[in-house]
Amino acid sequence: MIKGNFDIPLDFLQTSTPPMIGVDISSSSVKMLELSEAPKKNGFVVERYAIEPLPSDAVSDGNINNLEAVSEALQRAWKRMGTRIRNVSLALPAAAVISKKIMLPAGLREDDLEYQVESEANQYIPFALDEVNLDFQVLGPSPNNPEEIEVLLAASRKANVEDRVAAAQTAGLKAVVMDVEPYAAEAAFNQISSQLPAGAEDQCIAVVDIGASVMNVNVLRNGQSVYTRDQQVGGNQLTQQIQAAFGLTAEEAEAAKRNGGLPENYESDVLAPFRENVAMEVARALQFFFT
Ligand SMILES: Nc1ncnc2c1ncn2[C@@H]1O[C@H](COP(=O)(O)OP(=O)(O)O)[C@@H](O)[C@H]1O
Ligand SMILES: [Mg+2]
Repeated sequence: MIKGNFDIPLDFLQTSTPPMIGVDISSSSVKMLELSEAPKKNGFVVERYAIEPLPSDAVSDGNINNLEAVSEALQRAWKRMGTRIRNVSLALPAAAVISKKIMLPAGLREDDLEYQVESEANQYIPFALDEVNLDFQVLGPSPNNPEEIEVLLAASRKANVEDRVAAAQTAGLKAVVMDVEPYAAEAAFNQISSQLPAGAEDQCIAVVDIGASVMNVNVLRNGQSVYTRDQQVGGNQLTQQIQAAFGLTAEEAEAAKRNGGLPENYESDVLAPFRENVAMEVARALQFFFT
């Protein structure tokens, strides 16, 4: 028999973090992802995802220029997901965040730590503290001095944070986490690194993210970024080359690129040179890392 009183809060069902959807707001689209834990596999499985395109200038360099368009895309993506979860985790692009590792004395009380972080932050942040959202995380004992701890500071102008929160809110969603894109990518990488040869231990692994207008190369070692570089290379260039080669509008070229239907010489005359160019840019980024 099922107990009749459903007003009792089912506290024991609450896990430490509320269920939430991961949301990526980028220049080309809004992407949503819902994961669930798969304890047997010691990882996660994808429950649902959705991608909704954005108009071309709605988001540029990580800034939301058209709040309405972003919020509409979020709403469409959420509807298509068919989920009940409204809590979302968002992230700020690296360019919108000032982050810095600082050393503080070990053994501080929580409020002393907060105070120290704020006074240190003042030195590194070129804005008044009441204009920024500031957060920090204790990374652990300092590698060089046992009397100190290493603390990671992250600060962003309030407007950057508020735009994203507002876009979610207008779409009926609630921002519960504001991450930083490269940190989120690092955390995601740590979920898969155990599948690499020797668990990727003590090895340098380059993660390449090719987007619409920017390619990011991030070199990780033991789960931490040791080098990162953005280059102005991406899928938009291929779209432009298709436009020029076959006399198409941007929309036509984008659709043909994804769905096919281009003339026979597309592969050899447009796609192959683009691929070579991207490969060269990756090689160049790695060269910078090695030197
Ligand atoms: N099926 C596909 N074939 C070729 N290019 C694609 C395909 N799907 C998406 N793209 C391209 O990938 C790029 C989008 O990558 P994405 O990582 O979503 O961009 P960003 O995060 O920079 O907004 C766009 O240039 C898009 O045209
Ligand atoms: Mg992207």
